Amino acid sequence: MDAEIQHDTVSVATMTSATVLQKIRLAEQFRQGKQVRLLRPSYAMNLFFENSTRTHTSFEMAERRLGLQVLDFNVNSSSISKGETLEDTVKTLQAIGVDIAVIRHPANDYYQQLLDDRLEISIVNGGDGSGQHPSQSLLDMMTIYQEFGHFSGLKIGIVGDLKHSRVARSNMELLTRLGATIRFASPDEWYSAEFAKYGKRLSLDELVTQCDVVMLLRVQKERLGQSLPHFDQKRYHDQFGLTQARFKRLPPQAIIMHPAPVNRGIEIDSELVESSQSRIFKQMSNGMYMRMAILTDILVAKGLLSQKTLEGTGEFEISN
Ligand code: CP
Repeated sequence: MDAEIQHDTVSVATMTSATVLQKIRLAEQFRQGKQVRLLRPSYAMNLFFENSTRTHTSFEMAERRLGLQVLDFNVNSSSISKGETLEDTVKTLQAIGVDIAVIRHPANDYYQQLLDDRLEISIVNGGDGSGQHPSQSLLDMMTIYQEFGHFSGLKIGIVGDLKHSRVARSNMELLTRLGATIRFASPDEWYSAEFAKYGKRLSLDELVTQCDVVMLLRVQKERLGQSLPHFDQKRYHDQFGLTQARFKRLPPQAIIMHPAPVNRGIEIDSELVESSQSRIFKQMSNGMYMRMAILTDILVAKGLLSQKTLEGTGEFEISN
């Protein structure tokens, strides 16, 4: 199946294996120094209604490296604070000439109405509530592909707060489509029967002995609400943290991933963040190149970059 170059990137739901591989190839080309030239001055705006370091900064870096002009958006000083809707805000940006809006928002599926409006401005989802985080998922796929060169048959353990995690949701969906096998380890209160169709649930002690990738999830304290005072960090770390003892039981080829920010000493022993099997900072560097790839595909779809920009994303070799 051919890769599909889309006007918006909001979810992994419609991403085929071919699309994922095409984006990994393009991101690799950027990592190896590829440069592009826009066909006219083009503008991006990053609207973050939730805090972010990685996604916000790496989108902005990616936009600047591609030659986009980046406009500032501050939620508190915008007319959102006077009650303007997100839809009207985005339509306003379109009227002013913004080409791409990268949006992070606490509401699940906030982007649906914007897509239904068939706007000219492109929407990139930088994370919606507990829904989707497509750019994180694609950078995770890039990191796994760099390591193993394929997805088929890989055993991926996803550990922790599955319920609140848009990263887990996007990754279990995409990895299953790519042929990987998923295993989960999670407290009862952060697990849901809806995940069973993606893979089995094991204890973390069992999971670590049989995975190629152990993907730890952040404990999202900001989403715990009234249960936050009852969260016992030590108990969580003992049951669901990657401790030194569990690290020693990982297969030698296994890598450790975490979308970050990391709660050191809760999801993972602090020293293991920098261990030889950790790819946590690699994920962050890959994130910038993958976001260049996501934006490039959109710029090509909009006619702001030549179709030729995508030449060579069909065949290439990964060099680590
Ligand atoms: N992984 C991730 O989305 O990090 P930020 O919240 O810092 O963007």
